[in-house]
Amino acid sequence: MKNDTLLRALMREPTPYTPVWIMRQAGRYLPEYNATRKKAGSFLALAKTPELACEVTLQPLERFALDAAIIFSDILTVPDAMGLGLYFAEGEGPKFERPVRTEQDVAKLAVPDLERLRYVFDAIALTRKSLHGRVPLIGFSGSPFTLACYMVEGGGSDDFRTVKTMLYSRPELLHRILEVNAQAVIAYLNAQIAAGAQAVMIFDTWGGALSDAAYQEFSLAYSRRVLAGLVRTHEGRTVPRILFTKGGGMWLESMAQAGADALGIDWQTNLAEARRRVGHQVALQGNLDPMVLFGTPAAIEREAHRVLDSFGGGPGHVFNLGHGVSQHTPPEHVQALVEAVHAGSLGAHAA
Ligand code: CP3
Repeated sequence: MKNDTLLRALMREPTPYTPVWIMRQAGRYLPEYNATRKKAGSFLALAKTPELACEVTLQPLERFALDAAIIFSDILTVPDAMGLGLYFAEGEGPKFERPVRTEQDVAKLAVPDLERLRYVFDAIALTRKSLHGRVPLIGFSGSPFTLACYMVEGGGSDDFRTVKTMLYSRPELLHRILEVNAQAVIAYLNAQIAAGAQAVMIFDTWGGALSDAAYQEFSLAYSRRVLAGLVRTHEGRTVPRILFTKGGGMWLESMAQAGADALGIDWQTNLAEARRRVGHQVALQGNLDPMVLFGTPAAIEREAHRVLDSFGGGPGHVFNLGHGVSQHTPPEHVQALVEAVHAGSLGAHAA
């Protein structure tokens, strides 16, 4: 591989500079993404056509000196394959035709036939081929709990009332959903690794909406189970795992013991403190506020240096945003960020 800085940093090995990639780096802030999406007809058609998914995965790498590619897909492919009927209502985000709410719904739920997700594995294999070893390809999944949020709510939510009602009134039903989700995510991520994903990330976007006790029992316990079920090496190399809980800053110690090699750190968490707390156990990925990209290039450079300085010297840092890039971000500002991270971190990560 020509540039393996991401894989090395995730394993806390020395790198010549801080590797950087951006959550949602292939997305609506890029005009070429919008053009390909239009050609596909819809987001789902785009994600389900391997040639087009590969094309948009590579688009940000043509523009910016990013140190990783992340396969273009979505966390909701798994519940879609379970038969819940994923669709996107214009301007309203993801929705399910058949949410999982009653005892009967839960009883019917099962780990999907992986053939129904073949388009994801085909996109990964094709993208690996097209990358020619330029940078590593990241695979991903939602956490069992975050998937359950969408499956029970039937879409996004402001207060998670439906899933929390189940959590507090019929916890055994939610546990059953989480058990099925964990098995499905293990199979899904292992198939992504077999298809060529060289690192994997678990997005626990909504774990941070829970109380401490509920987080441990309904979110982290199942992410831990997923991590324990993943293939450790492929093609003779360790496959690093990243665990990201948005709003998870107070749980870093328990997250660091869940079996991940790296933790994603949201932008509200102090990176230096995070490193003091868990940096001897795991690498850290993050944590620039995505809104910094609306500042001037000079401000972006200053804030990038603030993150780099906050982590400090030594191995174990992957630069990223603290959450996904906004669709309104000027692409030139992403360019300014990537350049600032590379120039500002030369020589910072010796052993
Ligand atoms: O990072 C990347 O470039 C890889 C692609 C990626 C997408 N979704 C593409 C996408 C990844 C890693 C995801 C993960 C995802 N999807 C998460 C977890 C990450 C996070 O943000 O915390 C969640 C919660 C979802 C569910 C989902 N899918 C939402 C909330 C939306 C946005 C709806 C909207 O209209 O804003 C999607 C759709 C989606 N997934 C888009 C993209 C680029 C936008 C779709 C479009 O083109 O209209």
